[in-house]
Amino acid sequence: MTSSAEQARGEHTDTAQASAERARKTAEGLSYLSGFGNQHSTEAVPGALPTGRNSPQRAPLGLYAEQLSGSAFTEPRAHNRRSWLYRIRPSAAHPRFVRTGNGTVRTAPFTEADPDPNRLRWNPLPEPAPGTDFLAGLWTLGGNGDAAQRAGMAIHLYAANAPMTRVFSDADGELLVVPERGGLLLRTELGLLRAEPGHVALIPRGVRFRVEPLTAGTTARGYVCENYGSPFVLPDLGPIGANGLANPRDFLAPVAAYEETAGPVEVVNKFCGNLWKATYDHSPLDVVAWHGNHVPYVYDLHRFNVIGSISYDHPDPSIFTVLTSPSDTPGLAGVDFVVFAPRWLVGEDTFRPPYFHRNVMSEYMGLVEGAYDAKAEGFVPGGGSLHNMMSAHGPDQETFDRASAAELKPQKIDDGLAFMFETRWPVTLTPQARDADHLQDGYDDVWRGLRQAGGPGGSPRGHSGP
Ligand SMILES: [Fe+2]
Repeated sequence: MTSSAEQARGEHTDTAQASAERARKTAEGLSYLSGFGNQHSTEAVPGALPTGRNSPQRAPLGLYAEQLSGSAFTEPRAHNRRSWLYRIRPSAAHPRFVRTGNGTVRTAPFTEADPDPNRLRWNPLPEPAPGTDFLAGLWTLGGNGDAAQRAGMAIHLYAANAPMTRVFSDADGELLVVPERGGLLLRTELGLLRAEPGHVALIPRGVRFRVEPLTAGTTARGYVCENYGSPFVLPDLGPIGANGLANPRDFLAPVAAYEETAGPVEVVNKFCGNLWKATYDHSPLDVVAWHGNHVPYVYDLHRFNVIGSISYDHPDPSIFTVLTSPSDTPGLAGVDFVVFAPRWLVGEDTFRPPYFHRNVMSEYMGLVEGAYDAKAEGFVPGGGSLHNMMSAHGPDQETFDRASAAELKPQKIDDGLAFMFETRWPVTLTPQARDADHLQDGYDDVWRGLRQAGGPGGSPRGHSGP
């Protein structure tokens, strides 16, 4: 006999499967606009986008013109971000928002746990309960700064097995989504994006969206960097020149797409750390045309042009920066998004894996696929490690022994895709991350077997005695 709960779960699975199939077919047919930071223009209906002005007396097709600002009106042109949206109803047409539960989402300032100098590592999130959507499956590990001051960042993971029917927006920051398992269809106000494992998707501050897993019957999983600070930009290239690292044309923004649906739609707004909800009588994803540069985008990390040493030594990992959120100090990022992509290692007389180091910045690392070349085991896709400010880390013993003895012929590292959120301030955990069952015990032990220099029990040559 089937219980009502099992029946409900079965019905839910059918719905989720049908939705995933629709999402997959939709995602296959998507087209995009190319170029990071471009002033894009797009219309889902011919003639919907006004020409020559932003706010005509009567916008085409009777649409409402609305500006969405991602920067203060007066910020310098090079930093200014805004898009003009032409929509079926103005965003102002909504009922009152009321508080709703924050679930497992937390926001800076993070003050509930003691900042921890220890090296920490987690296994992947546990499987979510049936019917968990992206927002319900969003789980905050920790972060820094203060969302209300628009400074700092939060590290989240997600595990979802159901499409969102509600719509979400984050007033606290932009969201850099890093899928690790299962593709996502992101239905945003500005159009649709497909993000597979190996891609990243960015949702700008305040842009509304819904997430649907592309694969039925499985859990979509990944990481999210919530950046409270200045929006991510491409890093300057300096002597590298005009090309390299992440190339601007590989960043893809959506073309306009809209929903014209009646009926209740729950809209959730994250504002200064709390979730607020309102039930609209229409979908707010009703933008028929838009132009501007405050846009969501996707980027395929496999397109990253990896630059490294062709003589000796391992460059500092900043050479792998995809996106950076600048602070008020030149060169000091609120947060950098860094990728360790497939690459050749050719350095002569060089310890080729990442070296031992202590860093004034704080590093959260995740793994999208395969393995990472500084850790032989224990760092798994969907898991993550935190090496907080000034904590000592580097290759584990097995990696050190192997790399120290390796024959230094050219070697292709192509069995993994790891990334790092590197941030200027220490990361304080949430209690749920500090106390999680999936926090590994004994991470320190990966460095325990490293021998004293000079051999077991010995001293370095030339430094014997007191
Ligand atoms: Fe590091």
